[in-house]
Amino acid sequence: MIYLRSLLLCSVFVGPLMLGVCAQGTCNGNTPCLCSYENGQFLDFTSLGNKDDTPRFYNVSDKYEYAYSWNPCYNFTEGNCSEVSVCKIESAIPYDLYTPLGYQNSYEFVTNRSDNSVELVYQAGTGSGHIRLICVNGSTTTSLIALGPPSQQSHDFYFELRSPLCCPQGTPLTSVPTTIEPTTGCPACAGTSGLKDALIGVSVVLGLLLVVSIILAVKLRRLMAKKVYDEL
Ligand SMILES: *[C@@H]1O[C@H](CO)[C@@H](O)[C@H](O)[C@H]1NC(C)=O
Ligand SMILES: *[C@@H]1O[C@H](CO)[C@@H](O)[C@H](O)[C@H]1NC(C)=O
Ligand SMILES: *[C@@H]1O[C@H](CO)[C@@H](O)[C@H](O)[C@H]1NC(C)=O
Ligand SMILES: *[C@@H]1O[C@H](CO)[C@@H](O)[C@H](O)[C@H]1NC(C)=O
Ligand SMILES: *[C@@H]1O[C@H](CO)[C@@H](O)[C@H](O)[C@H]1NC(C)=O
Repeated sequence: MIYLRSLLLCSVFVGPLMLGVCAQGTCNGNTPCLCSYENGQFLDFTSLGNKDDTPRFYNVSDKYEYAYSWNPCYNFTEGNCSEVSVCKIESAIPYDLYTPLGYQNSYEFVTNRSDNSVELVYQAGTGSGHIRLICVNGSTTTSLIALGPPSQQSHDFYFELRSPLCCPQGTPLTSVPTTIEPTTGCPACAGTSGLKDALIGVSVVLGLLLVVSIILAVKLRRLMAKKVYDEL
């Protein structure tokens, strides 16, 4: 009975703490280059953007018939794609066809609530470019993979950016005095394992304190009851 009650109380304590650690929440876009989490961590692509009107990723082919160029942060011009962030290139005769898939000022960082993954989405007219940000820890290379559209009729085009820049940077805002690796694997929940361990520790201590105080309270109540009984 006592055991059950304390188990219940303990899980009430631990539950919200675990959620608080793991749900890093959405990465809110501040600029086309940067989004930040509620806990102070952020994703920053400033170092990736070319500033000379050329795309950082040039003419990347998908497995269909298209190629794409993308530049984070700053716009570029390629063929008929003027001052864009994403451009689709279709080889054609006599001229290649260029279709803008996004402008820098249309940027939006979209967080998938179910797995904490983040997508950088651009719009241009009816088309859109979706850059899925995949955290690759420990890697020194950054690569863009063009997945193409989900169907032939679709105007939405998907990409994967695999990079350590897609791992949350910075130290999470917390008073727990443990050193935390900022870049440990995706999804965004990563990098908090040290913090998690510390909080599990705190929760266990709180749980134990609870068990002890409940036992003491029950003993005290019995003692009081006995005393009253004795006095009668
Ligand atoms: C882009 O890539 C395609 C396929 O790899 C190639 O045929 C085309 O010539 C390239 N265009 C430019 C401008 O490099
Ligand atoms: C492209 O970048 C330049 C310089 O930052 C800016 O003045 C211009 O408005 C941008 N164009 C678009 C379409 O965003
Ligand atoms: C590209 O631009 C030129 C002039 O800037 C225009 O004549 C041509 O129609 C455009 N092509 C496409 C496919 O938009
Ligand atoms: C969000 O992530 C889940 C799990 O990976 C996936 O099944 C779902 O399709 C994603 N939703 C969107 C809108 O991408
Ligand atoms: C992540 O990368 C850092 C720096 O390269 C490394 O110290 C750490 O062990 C890595 N973590 C994982 C889980 O690979």
